[in-house]
Amino acid sequence: MSELPNLTVVDHPLIRHKLALLRSVDTPTKLFRELVEEMAMLMAYEVTRTLEEEVVEVVTPLEATTGYRIAGKKLVVVPVLRAGLGMVEGVLRLIPSARVGHVGLARDEESLQPVEYYFKVPSESASRRFLVVDPMLATGGSASAAIARLKERGVRGITYMCLVAAPEGVRALADAHPDVAVFTGVLDRQLNDVGYILPGLGDAGDRLFGTK
Ligand code: PRP
Ligand code: URA
Repeated sequence: MSELPNLTVVDHPLIRHKLALLRSVDTPTKLFRELVEEMAMLMAYEVTRTLEEEVVEVVTPLEATTGYRIAGKKLVVVPVLRAGLGMVEGVLRLIPSARVGHVGLARDEESLQPVEYYFKVPSESASRRFLVVDPMLATGGSASAAIARLKERGVRGITYMCLVAAPEGVRALADAHPDVAVFTGVLDRQLNDVGYILPGLGDAGDRLFGTK
């Protein structure tokens, strides 16, 4: 992926299998929700590979030894509302003590520009690592805006994780935030003329919450 250097595609057989189910127009809301959560958990395993560790002393029933624990302040997971909410529980299954912030953004359907309606993140943000989650990276407008808001709070260690990305969005995000590593379950072909990802899976928020 040399022309998209910030991008990692987590192409594991389990993720590919679940993605095909997720894309299907026949997948009902309940299963869609379960798949989003499961995929988020599987991807989080890979995304957290670079978390900082520290050495700890451990006493087993037989002798003393050393082990590792995750170092530093608790990670903050930030779903981009609404659809990002569907990924939070999956990440928390792996990192149960993570904090959760929220960024509420909705794309204006005509301009495709994100409009913010909510923002709340934990205190002492500047010294924490952040994982921004949203199933869909389309034009990249929502991701770029969410990350810009976090940076206004002094946050620097930001990783972005989605399930489906369009090349247009990956490029736009890399231009706006070259310091942010992007992880996706799949890199799709392109956007259509109303900003939907092709082949994609449709409107992730509507499919998660059954609002269509
Ligand atoms: C969707 C999706 C992303 C955004 C991606 O949310 O969940 O947040 O679109 O598009 P972009 O990369 O072009 O910004 P939407 O704005 O539809 O809101 P919703 O999650 O409330 O449905
Ligand atoms: N948002 C979605 O939910 N789906 C897309 O294909 C693009 C943006």
